[in-house]
Amino acid sequence: MLEKDIEKTFYSEQQIQERVAVLGKEISREYQDKFPLVVGILKGAVPFLSDLVRAMPIHMEMDFMDVSSYGNATVSSGEVRILKDLSTVVEGRHIILVEDIIDSGRTLKYLVDLLKHRKAASVKIVTMLDKPEGRVVDMAADYVGFEVPNEFVVGYGLDYAEDYRNLPYIGVLKPEIYENA
Ligand code: PRP
Ligand code: MN
Ligand code: MG
Repeated sequence: MLEKDIEKTFYSEQQIQERVAVLGKEISREYQDKFPLVVGILKGAVPFLSDLVRAMPIHMEMDFMDVSSYGNATVSSGEVRILKDLSTVVEGRHIILVEDIIDSGRTLKYLVDLLKHRKAASVKIVTMLDKPEGRVVDMAADYVGFEVPNEFVVGYGLDYAEDYRNLPYIGVLKPEIYENA
């Protein structure tokens, strides 16, 4: 079971759901007459996007993109590769980019630049978590669920080796989970 691998909970399921409801209301107010294109960044954003859009009772369209960083962590090229592109034309659209976390900021920097290049009418960012200490490039979200310290968090979309994404809350793994890997 997943539970037994978690050392501590950062944000409980209830805290997350309450925050998502507030964010959904705020964002809906801004976009109610704009038919936004809500873009989820695979795979981490899926649980958050799924809850967020159901807290937004407005007309919208949804699409997804999958991107991956080039190279390893020691290379700070900031290059990003598109694994799956949008199937929607971006020109003239109001885009809401949905992420689970902003860390270095590279993924979103690349995506915002790309969508502006494709002539989006506007691009805004909503992220469940913001890890300001991780920032390498200048990037700020328009809507943030919670801030997290510089720790490796899992759950609610966030993975460790592709595992734990389906945990309904956000927590930190026990050290032995990494040690045994
Ligand atoms: C993670 C996370 C963000 C990105 C944030 O995705 O979901 O998309 O990294 O990091 P950054 O701000 O340093 O760019 P990852 O590339 O691990 O893919 P995943 O969502 O499929 O786990
Ligand atoms: Mn991601
Ligand atoms: Mg990941």
